[in-house]
Amino acid sequence: MDYSIETAPLETLSCDCIIIGVYQDRQLVPSGTALSDNIQHVIAKVISRGDTSGKVAETVLINVIPDSGVERVLLVGLGENKPLSPKDFRKALSAAVNSLKKPYIKSIACGLADIAVEGCNLQWNVRQIVEVFNDAVYQFTALKSDKETESKLQKITITSPESGLASAQLGLTQGLAIAEGVGFTKALADLPGNICTPTYLAEQAIELSKNHSGLSVKILEESDMTALGMGSFLSVSRGSRQPAKLIALEYQGGKNGSKPVVLVGKGLTFDAGGISLKPGAGMDEMKYDMCGGAAVMGTLLAAVKMQLPINIVGLIPSSENMPDGDANKPGDIVTSMSGKTIEVLNTDAEGRLILCDTLTYAERYKPDVVIDLATLTGACLVALGRVPSGLLGNDDDLCNALIAAGVAACDSVWRLPLWEEYQELLKSNFADLANIGGKDAGTITAACFLSHFAKNFRWAHLDIAGTAWRTGQFKGATGRPVPLLSQYLIDRVSS
Ligand code: BES
Ligand code: MN
Ligand code: ZN
Repeated sequence: MDYSIETAPLETLSCDCIIIGVYQDRQLVPSGTALSDNIQHVIAKVISRGDTSGKVAETVLINVIPDSGVERVLLVGLGENKPLSPKDFRKALSAAVNSLKKPYIKSIACGLADIAVEGCNLQWNVRQIVEVFNDAVYQFTALKSDKETESKLQKITITSPESGLASAQLGLTQGLAIAEGVGFTKALADLPGNICTPTYLAEQAIELSKNHSGLSVKILEESDMTALGMGSFLSVSRGSRQPAKLIALEYQGGKNGSKPVVLVGKGLTFDAGGISLKPGAGMDEMKYDMCGGAAVMGTLLAAVKMQLPINIVGLIPSSENMPDGDANKPGDIVTSMSGKTIEVLNTDAEGRLILCDTLTYAERYKPDVVIDLATLTGACLVALGRVPSGLLGNDDDLCNALIAAGVAACDSVWRLPLWEEYQELLKSNFADLANIGGKDAGTITAACFLSHFAKNFRWAHLDIAGTAWRTGQFKGATGRPVPLLSQYLIDRVSS
């Protein structure tokens, strides 16, 4: 989709539909009041007839405007005439674009950028318009014979006041970068496990680095992992016919020698549970167990597009978790790269087994911070549902920075405690650590397990089990937490 910023009055732009906002008190948004009398008259009539109440996200399409060059106007409700909450602004945007998924609407002009939103500015508004619109028109058609998409939108013009042009442009650049990162993540995550294997993920990483200067990649094969002593990671892939890969992407946007942010993403391309086999219902959704890895690639893509002056390393341990004659068995004891031995009491707690060796590997980059993201525990869904991602970590400043970034990006996180009392639950009679902590506090004990391998750096863990994809009728990847991580990186370079 093609986005641009325009300072000319809305109605002078040729397009299939103009979007303007209306409050409950019948007032139009600033760019709406500049419309010609004729158009304002039609709108006033529609409103006075009660065709729209102006409630947040209510839409009405006026599809003929007599005696005017304007084809159509979409009125979208903005609620009470006062600054909108960021969430309501996003709701209104999403209602607007969803109601314009019609075969005859290919181009739109959006007059919603200069609306007052609590604590936000024009730059943020423009960025959200791009992110929300792009998210709404995404459709996974790669594997359908009929590639027709519901939305025919091709061209979006966002109007901005002359005085705000520079910040609108910056919002556009950021919005496009983040939307591209999110789109990349979703398209990769929505692929099925028979196509998106560890080898496929590695190929995508290679492709990504070929297409973007500043990005380089190294793929570690199982033989390399054996040499490094990654006995924990390799124990998971042993149960699968697909060879494991450890993908290492490097983005050098910062000074030589400046310490990188290391992002570690779980890239489990299908999680059957292994010998501790999962129940059948809903098991297809375990193709999404690589969403952390996909989001690491998506975030790097966004960083490259924004040319952030910072060094970032993306590490993606990728494997399947399958039941097989050679698979991990409950009770097996494996030796991790750190030297710690692990009793595998449940082979379905495999994410931490591949992440722990990757965290140890991350030490060699002398990271400033390490953030891992993983669809790690079903318990996170029980605790937090599908609203925020779970956040745990060993550094308050890092956690607070991620919380703030989550608020700013509308991609929220909620912190859970990582107190030492919980470590008790991971004791093993036979090894240094058990890989599960029993039925209590599953998200916390998973993070406790990882914390043993994150002692030498500032570290945060995002459990994205509830946020990386939607289930049910609208099943599909969300691209989270790419907006959150992109915001965190933006904040780092601007403070
Ligand atoms: N990938 C799953 C976690 C998961 C489950 C994410 C459901 C989203 C929805 C992970 O590998 C797993 O199986 N975790 C186990 C851990 C348990 C055995 C301690 C779980 O959550 O059941
Ligand atoms: Mn599992
Ligand atoms: Zn898993």
